[in-house]
Amino acid sequence: MKVVVIGAQWGDEGKGKIVDYLAEDAEYVVRYAGGPNAGHTIVVDGKQFALHQVPSGILYPNKSVFLGAGMVIDPEALFNELQMLKDNGINWEGRVFISDRAHIILPRYRKMDKERDSQRKRPIGTTGRGIGIAYSEKSQRDGIRLADLDWKQKMDEFEGEDLEFINKYKDQLIKMRVDLTQKMYEYRKSNILFEGAQGAMLDIDSGTYPYVSSGASCSAGAATGCGIGPHDLDKILGVFKAYETRVGNGPMPTEFNDSDEAESELCRKVRDTGREYGVTTGRARRCGYLDLVALRYACRVNSIDSLVLTHLDIYDPMEQIEACIAYDINGKIVTDFPANVEDMENAKPVLQKFTGWKKSLKEIRKYSKLPKEAREYVEFIEDYCKTPVGIISVGYERDETFIRKNPWKK
Ligand code: IMO
Ligand code: MG
Repeated sequence: MKVVVIGAQWGDEGKGKIVDYLAEDAEYVVRYAGGPNAGHTIVVDGKQFALHQVPSGILYPNKSVFLGAGMVIDPEALFNELQMLKDNGINWEGRVFISDRAHIILPRYRKMDKERDSQRKRPIGTTGRGIGIAYSEKSQRDGIRLADLDWKQKMDEFEGEDLEFINKYKDQLIKMRVDLTQKMYEYRKSNILFEGAQGAMLDIDSGTYPYVSSGASCSAGAATGCGIGPHDLDKILGVFKAYETRVGNGPMPTEFNDSDEAESELCRKVRDTGREYGVTTGRARRCGYLDLVALRYACRVNSIDSLVLTHLDIYDPMEQIEACIAYDINGKIVTDFPANVEDMENAKPVLQKFTGWKKSLKEIRKYSKLPKEAREYVEFIEDYCKTPVGIISVGYERDETFIRKNPWKK
């Protein structure tokens, strides 16, 4: 079985936790998009790990993990992350591999990324990790892949700081380098978990362009980013939070309005209990009501088979919950997700009200044990998106999760 986990919003949906949870039944975990812009948090027995490039399956002692060709890799940050794991007793040696087709981020890309974003008339608010530059170089066909490290003619073209940097990491990278396409074929009968980064709305093609990241964070990215055909992906899971967040700039129709007292209070509560601060940049995340127009769009364009609902417990104390079921764009009610940025910026959310459950969900491990009001919220989402919610997370810990439908079963 091949199961893909993508973010179904603007990133930070809790993919790390879910990948870690599902990895128990996977033999291999493969990350397929982005690079050090991602921040995947996993909590096991009270201990928190923040992963940026290493796939979230690494915490299981015997699993091999792969960094796919769709990724852009910063070796310096990668080896720091591996050192952090080692310092925390995670022995990673011999089980972290990188696709020979993956691209390398050079240190000057970080500087270029920050400079370029600060010079933009409408900055994107990038993570400053050199992501956009690395993907541009790749598209321009001037990038450097792991496979190129022993291509003499290409290496001769590097000089100065670039050459120094490449030489510093070359041997270590070559040791971890594999032909991932060949591995995918070799492991075709195994359970493989594909870990997405960013989210559906940050995908370069189907996201809120130009306010997106530069990789293929859509489900199809798992195929192109690992060297298998889309036909071989068995299940697509879309992770989403009970509310919405976004870091960086760009339209977000359901964002809580700071000048409205009730909404700014709600924002403060959600941000604090939901720990909505960036794992990569520390920025406070923008928070808002769940956007079902965007979620349904994400389900459609990614062929999501099953949704994974996280952070449901953040709404535990609320009297009332609201979610966006349509946009009001200059008086016109719209339920299809617009491509036009101005339309998105003008969109006012049409909100549906739900009664809160006012109980702690932390101990719940079975859907039927959820309070009726929580089930009503879940079932409304399923009905709106025409997609079942197969897994629900009610806390940060690995075991604060329950499955309604096991994605590893046909
Ligand atoms: P995970 O995997 C949330 C956002 C940035 C910025 C835009 C472009 O943790 O969900 P980039 O540096 O990629 O060029 O920035 O994309 N962004 C993310 N937001 N979670 C992420 O990853 C993100 N990766 C990029 O904030 O708005
Ligand atoms: Mg993040």
